[in-house]
Amino acid sequence: MTTLLSHLSYVALTTPDVEASVDFYVNKVGLTEVARQDCAVYLRCWGDYYTYSLVIQRADEPSLATMAWRTTSREALDEAVQRIEAAGVTGEWFDGLDIGRAYRFVGPWGHSMTLHWDARHFRYEEGELASVFPDRPQRRSRVAGAPRHLDHVTVCASDVDAFAAWYSEVLGYRIMARTVLEDIPLSVFSVITTNEKSHDLGIVLDGSDRAGRINHFAFWVDTREEMLIAADSLLEDGVRIEYGPTIHGIGEQSFLYYREPSSMRIELNTGGYRNYVPDWDANTWKTSQGSYDIYQNSPMHASLSESFPPANGPSASEEGITEEVRDQLAAKSAGVTE
Ligand SMILES: [Fe+2]
Repeated sequence: MTTLLSHLSYVALTTPDVEASVDFYVNKVGLTEVARQDCAVYLRCWGDYYTYSLVIQRADEPSLATMAWRTTSREALDEAVQRIEAAGVTGEWFDGLDIGRAYRFVGPWGHSMTLHWDARHFRYEEGELASVFPDRPQRRSRVAGAPRHLDHVTVCASDVDAFAAWYSEVLGYRIMARTVLEDIPLSVFSVITTNEKSHDLGIVLDGSDRAGRINHFAFWVDTREEMLIAADSLLEDGVRIEYGPTIHGIGEQSFLYYREPSSMRIELNTGGYRNYVPDWDANTWKTSQGSYDIYQNSPMHASLSESFPPANGPSASEEGITEEVRDQLAAKSAGVTE
């Protein structure tokens, strides 16, 4: 298979209060609002190469509206669509803001995914947001520790390995690593990628009755120092740091989590390794090996297993997960998201 996808280009999220969320992203995260269209607000990080990387739209609950990947070429977009439809999934074409002709489908675990080739190469040429540096599409945000880029998204699925296999076989994601429970060979977490990053799509086990959920999405800062400055700045803005700063075992990024007003979890991360190996064999971790937190010396919060929209259905055991697994998940749940 030729390489079909190049990288994550934007994430669209829903929130019950669009203005509260947008105000948070602009004034506390340091993003720039670039457009409003059809009740959606388009935002960008100062280093994003395209017009936007985050879209905020209204719904009663926080959720993932869609996650978008740019293909490697126009032909790759058509080939990707052929492969999706050959796998029994049908989506639809639409024209998106500054991404032209795009294809949107709902994957087997209920997640909307958007694929596009066209993308406006964004740059402020003049005015207060223009940068003096040719490589920068926008001057650095004046908000301390503001992220340079969108980084990745982590979603939820009832079968982590099957999710990774489907996206690998159909769209060419490389499966990079997985985490299994201590005593049962059940995957509770996996990471897959379209490029040299350790992951741009994470999958966490979901025992709820709701398909298509998201656990968090992540921004990138260039250095750990910037991440610490962001943490400091968020605290002074009254924003609680849900977990971190610390370091993931898988990926080896420094990271922290916090929440926006909708309760959606945001990760800020930096560092870690690059992996260019085209025939990489995914490693299997156990939670006791520090896949989530290499130091393993901070109490895990049950809140870290909350995903969006909130689960309100049957318990994990009613979803076909045994009582024993559920107990292990309860004990380890904070250690399986990344
Ligand atoms: Fe993450």
